Amino acid sequence: MSKERVSRRQFLNYTLTGVGGFMAAGVLMPMLRFAIDPVLAAEGKGNFHATKQKVDDLTETPTRVDFTYEQKDAWYTSNVTQTAWVYKTKNGDIVALSPICKHLGCTVNWNANKSHPNMFFCPCHGGLYHKNGKNVPGTPPTKPLDVYPVKVKDGYLYLGKPKANNLV
Ligand code: FES
Repeated sequence: MSKERVSRRQFLNYTLTGVGGFMAAGVLMPMLRFAIDPVLAAEGKGNFHATKQKVDDLTETPTRVDFTYEQKDAWYTSNVTQTAWVYKTKNGDIVALSPICKHLGCTVNWNANKSHPNMFFCPCHGGLYHKNGKNVPGTPPTKPLDVYPVKVKDGYLYLGKPKANNLV
């Protein structure tokens, strides 16, 4: 018989450590999963949001399209409303521009200044943009309006996350 026998105290220590560890893992794993779940969940979702705009109704004149979607920030869910100025080019391509002025972030409007017809006008400091979003030199904005990636599904317009303007 071996001299290295496990004492009663050692046996209890090993047993309690093992059982305690097992129970701790059982408690901690769901907590850990809960903690990182929103981060993991945000990954796989599509980035396009549905609008109520029928593509067939779009013309060559920019139309204001408001759309709302649910946004999840970690554990907080809220409804976000965004706006796009959307029109069709002569070729039938759909252009969707962000209304956020590249100067200080005010909202631009189409054809809103009688002195500068058929342009996007920012009322805050008189910023001007051409129809394709290009900023007019000599006015405060120094960059073109961002563009939304677009998709059409079942005849309706879907918009993605705005990105730098690639039309100008
Ligand atoms: S915020 Fe638009 S011109 Fe200043």
